[in-house]
Amino acid sequence: MFETLKKATLDKIFVLMAEYAADPRDGKIDLGVGVYKDPGNNTPIMSAVKKAEQRILDTAKTKTYKGVVGNKEFSSAIVDLALGGVVDKSRIRTVNGAGGTGALMILLQVLGRARPGGRIFISEPTWPNHIPLAENAGLEVNYYPYFNTTTRGVDFDAMLKVLDDLTSDDIVLLHGCCHNPTGANLTNAQWDKVVESLKRTGAFPLVDLAYLGFGDGLEADAYGVRKVASSLPESLIAFSASKNFGLYRERAGVAIAIAKDSETADVVSSQMQNIIRGTISQTPDHGAEVVRVILEDKELRAEWEAELTEMRERMKRLRVKLADAIRQRSNSKDFDFIAEHSGMFSLLGLPEDVVTKLKLDDAIYMINDSRINVAGIPEDRVGELADKLLAAVR
Ligand SMILES: Cc1ncc(COP(=O)(O)O)c(C=O)c1O
Repeated sequence: MFETLKKATLDKIFVLMAEYAADPRDGKIDLGVGVYKDPGNNTPIMSAVKKAEQRILDTAKTKTYKGVVGNKEFSSAIVDLALGGVVDKSRIRTVNGAGGTGALMILLQVLGRARPGGRIFISEPTWPNHIPLAENAGLEVNYYPYFNTTTRGVDFDAMLKVLDDLTSDDIVLLHGCCHNPTGANLTNAQWDKVVESLKRTGAFPLVDLAYLGFGDGLEADAYGVRKVASSLPESLIAFSASKNFGLYRERAGVAIAIAKDSETADVVSSQMQNIIRGTISQTPDHGAEVVRVILEDKELRAEWEAELTEMRERMKRLRVKLADAIRQRSNSKDFDFIAEHSGMFSLLGLPEDVVTKLKLDDAIYMINDSRINVAGIPEDRVGELADKLLAAVR
């Protein structure tokens, strides 16, 4: 049977994680893996999550199936959190996904059914998993330029030029906030222009919202997704609770469909349910229930928001510290972009041989494309990191 198979390539991040784990050097620095790290270099269970889990443990009476759409109260709380009431609920339908990836999988499959072989435009660069997810749905992957490698900001004119040429058969995947891998994000005015372009061309938006609250705050980070959802007749949103609730392995996410009317929304819902039934049949519920408990309880919600704020501010502080340290040492503003980016990542724009050198000589790990996870910056060793980065690029 298996003789016909070739070895599939694994996402490079898993290889890097294994290399880091096997590296015996003291003081190694992990800027690679895309999970939040606290000052002790751990990815903690948030305190609001722990409390919600205890409550569930004490009160849950059954583990029977929830049904194909999953935990409706969780979905409803996420719709409120992400959209803040900007769209009439009669046009919204939701199903749970197994994490943000599961939500993306469902929504892309819906799009693949709606436009078999259709073109999807994805930012260049993007989170690498977008590509197989879209291809597995039978879509043709195309790119729009996104990152200016000189300024390390968004190459907005180039992006808009491509978007302006799309047709109503095309799909556009947008990162809702905290772009992965670049850390460069659209301003509100740029979101307005993107939405104007989509209105003009009729191209269809799919928003990937995996880091709500990691950039500038829950409300500020929702500007783009709310603009898209409220201005266009139809859109899709993939929400992940992995990062902002620290629920990574629990696989909590929501696929949100907004249709032009309630009847159409029912058709989309039936397709989403059909996809779930024919793939994983039911979605995981533990993480979904944890989020529901937190968002429906005033005190737990406040505690979660405070923890999220602390995480976000820590990442911002680390950005500023590293940018300052590099500026002081190099007397140049070349790395100031680190402080200007937002979210968990920054794309440093280093050549691959420099990234390899940093790994081999200094035990500093980052993704091959030079994406760093700013939460992995050791706060007490920022100066040393700046020295090593500068030595490697010289
Ligand atoms: C841009 C982006 N989208 C979606 C996801 C999906 O996350 P998960 O499936 O773990 O919820 C990630 C995770 O790294 C991501 O970076």
